[in-house]
Amino acid sequence: MKGRILSGIQPTGNFHIGNYFGALNQWVQLQNDYECLFCVVDLHAITTNYDPRKLLQHTREVAAAYIAAGIDEKKCIIFPQSAVASHAELGWIFSCMTPLGWLNRMTQFKEKAGKNKEKASLGLYSYPVLMAADILAYKATHVPVGEDQKQHLELCRDIAGAFNRFVKDEYFTLPEPLIQKHGARIMSLRDGTAKMSKSDPSEGSRINLKDSDEEIMQKIRKAKTDMNLFPDTFEDAKGRFEVKNLITIYALMTNQDPQSVCSQFSGGNFAPFKKALTDAIVERIAPIRNEFNRLMQDKEALDIILENGAHKAREIADVTKTQVFEYLGLYR
Ligand code: TYM
Repeated sequence: MKGRILSGIQPTGNFHIGNYFGALNQWVQLQNDYECLFCVVDLHAITTNYDPRKLLQHTREVAAAYIAAGIDEKKCIIFPQSAVASHAELGWIFSCMTPLGWLNRMTQFKEKAGKNKEKASLGLYSYPVLMAADILAYKATHVPVGEDQKQHLELCRDIAGAFNRFVKDEYFTLPEPLIQKHGARIMSLRDGTAKMSKSDPSEGSRINLKDSDEEIMQKIRKAKTDMNLFPDTFEDAKGRFEVKNLITIYALMTNQDPQSVCSQFSGGNFAPFKKALTDAIVERIAPIRNEFNRLMQDKEALDIILENGAHKAREIADVTKTQVFEYLGLYR
């Protein structure tokens, strides 16, 4: 084994192809080479407005999506974050070692809080500290994520370093981010300068894993392009944000590099490309969606997987928590 992986996705509904290519698809490829823990980060999902009546359903959905996309639940530990108390406990401890200046730099907080900073919750602000606890609780060596989580991982490394310095021991190893060359930042179908996001009010901005073939077709038909012809090279797509994004998505869906996509469609208009793109997405997503729907019909089976995962995760995280308590002179 090359090390231990911890990663997670928020159960906020609307699991989309950005989450799939930025994170999940990468995990599927890594699961044979690393000891893997995949968390459904429900404690993160309550940092912004949410519906408590839907949260558990969304948690099961994320777990089902992991398995439907190819995560082997027998090999990997799949579990809900809130079922392992050490995450929140370590989160508090790390928050006592994190200067406000470090958190003030987090761009995602600024984006999510927007103009309403005064009304944003303390949880949203300190969220990257909880994320550091998620990772360090398992002493993970590698963390596969999309580009938007890079800054949070740097903070996690800073927190690990601060802890080590405080206790004068190399207790935590600094986790390495694993970020893909292509697909680490899939953009909105409506605005190539904005990230594809679960919280975008426009449904047409993203392809969800649950979308029907018809919905995929409609969304790609309406996806923004521009008046120019298809670029000859990927380099020529520079500055054409929407076009570049669609080429990247097609390349990822068909397992080729973006340049060969450009060679294939070079100089043409966008209609044949959009047709091929729709077919490629449907071919890739439909089997995952079907498996996802099948898994969602047996909630008890999913709950057993989550509870077994939580049990295994607790065993690892509780050792870290106990050792951290000892270092810090806390009562056990
Ligand atoms: P979340 O739930 O927003 O996203 C889950 C994963 O999907 C990636 N991602 C994207 N990748 C490419 N293009 C996009 N448009 C796109 N949108 C999202 C994210 O980078 C992420 O990898 N804070 C994290 C969850 C988390 C976590 C952790 C991750 C909590 N604790 C510990 C790793 C380790 C988040 O909100 O991801």
